[in-house]
Amino acid sequence: MIGKHHTYADPKETAAASAKHILGRLEDATAGGRLASLAVSGGSTPKLLFEAFAGTPFDWTRVHLFWVDERGVPPDHEQSNYRLAEQAFLRPASFPTANVHRIQAELQPELAAEQYIADLRGFFGTAVGEVPKFDIIHQGMGPDAHTASLFPGEPLIEDRETLAAALYSQKMSQWRITLAPAVLLAARHTVMLVTGADKVEALRHVLGSDYAPLQYPTQIMREAGDVVWFMDRASAEGAVEPL
Ligand code: 6PG
Repeated sequence: MIGKHHTYADPKETAAASAKHILGRLEDATAGGRLASLAVSGGSTPKLLFEAFAGTPFDWTRVHLFWVDERGVPPDHEQSNYRLAEQAFLRPASFPTANVHRIQAELQPELAAEQYIADLRGFFGTAVGEVPKFDIIHQGMGPDAHTASLFPGEPLIEDRETLAAALYSQKMSQWRITLAPAVLLAARHTVMLVTGADKVEALRHVLGSDYAPLQYPTQIMREAGDVVWFMDRASAEGAVEPL
């Protein structure tokens, strides 16, 4: 069920391998002077990914960066996914600020979502009814099998029209702005980066249980076009046989 996957000894090795993979894909996507689009997630594992990006010489001038989701906090808040990326990646890598498409989560949530949709449409040149097609999207998975800010029971999980939305997570007691499944599933290539023993149960269900995405939201990735999983042994134990 899993498709393409790679398992590594620990989170650092897993993040380094996924960073190398993403940079290789971005190299291809920017060949001939084309612009590439990358969306990244937040949380703790991505910090290792961002540090690996910052530690690798790369020409970021033709890469435009978006976020998969953002917490409903200002960009300087300790829980901000933007702040995490800015400190671990954008600043040390001198990422071109003109290429950064931040979710303005300091705004009223619905307004932030509307702004983000406008930014997506502006960059991808898509009209209403068309879905932006990212070159690469990096997603994580929580211990409850959520991905992006699609938490179990969230009706947006079944929506295939909306591009992005603001939702209040009871579980996190927090507003979130998130890409919706239509955009997540339209990506040319998706990198799922999952580490930690606390993910074992979720990964087992996401990969092996009957399709029940309201219960295991990351299962929606079965509908995506081209997904590769990068996991550490701790998370993959029993969910997939280590390669
Ligand atoms: C967020 C993320 C979220 C994340 C998972 C996994 O804003 O929290 O976008 O979807 O990817 O929670 O996070 P870890 O990799 O840190 O476990």
